Amino acid sequence: MQIYLDSANPGEIEEALSWGVISGVTTNPSLIANETGGSASLVQRICKILGGKKPVSVEVLSTAAEDMVKEARRIALLAPNIVIKIPMGVEGLKAVYQLSQGVERVKCNVTLIFSVNQAILAARAGAAFVSPFIGRLDDIGWDGVGLVREMVDVFTKHNTDTAIIAASIRHPRHIHEVAMAGAHIATVPFSVLKQMISHPLTDLGVERFLRDWAKTRTDEVF
Ligand code: E4P
Repeated sequence: MQIYLDSANPGEIEEALSWGVISGVTTNPSLIANETGGSASLVQRICKILGGKKPVSVEVLSTAAEDMVKEARRIALLAPNIVIKIPMGVEGLKAVYQLSQGVERVKCNVTLIFSVNQAILAARAGAAFVSPFIGRLDDIGWDGVGLVREMVDVFTKHNTDTAIIAASIRHPRHIHEVAMAGAHIATVPFSVLKQMISHPLTDLGVERFLRDWAKTRTDEVF
């Protein structure tokens, strides 16, 4: 399973990339609104940090299909590695269909997916990615990971080549579970990515090795 960073913060993105674990980035209007500076230049900066190759999802703000398509085309011109995020809905499906069929073949990530039926429709319309929001489903007492499991099952049974990005990740257990469920990608906030690294026994282990070494080999280094 690939890991994307769910962030619009250049510092976080650079740091996570240096760990060698990040295959792409997802942003959304709320994440971009938290950052300073112009949104177009921020997006270009992020795309450049990703080497112009690893995908960066950027969401449209328009609500009518024709406007979404125009906005998507403008955003797509900002960098070669942009994926256009389009919210699920009738207008969104129309826009995805046009963008994925057009000569420029803009890749779309259909966002705010909360059911298998929505995922099937997004895939049929031509989405390269679908983003089920598992944390927001858990928040209302539904089973976010269960949705990912069912989506993987359906897409596998029907040879659907749309990639499933498990989104709205709240804690490391979510990542473990969506990986078990077969999600292709999990998009993870930086805070959760950091949590994934740590285990108390790892910290204790390192401490003990250093302590034992220091008992007899104070001056020696490899
Ligand atoms: C996904 O692409 C979204 O940016 C994100 O995961 C939303 O998560 P939230 O529910 O924490 O806002």
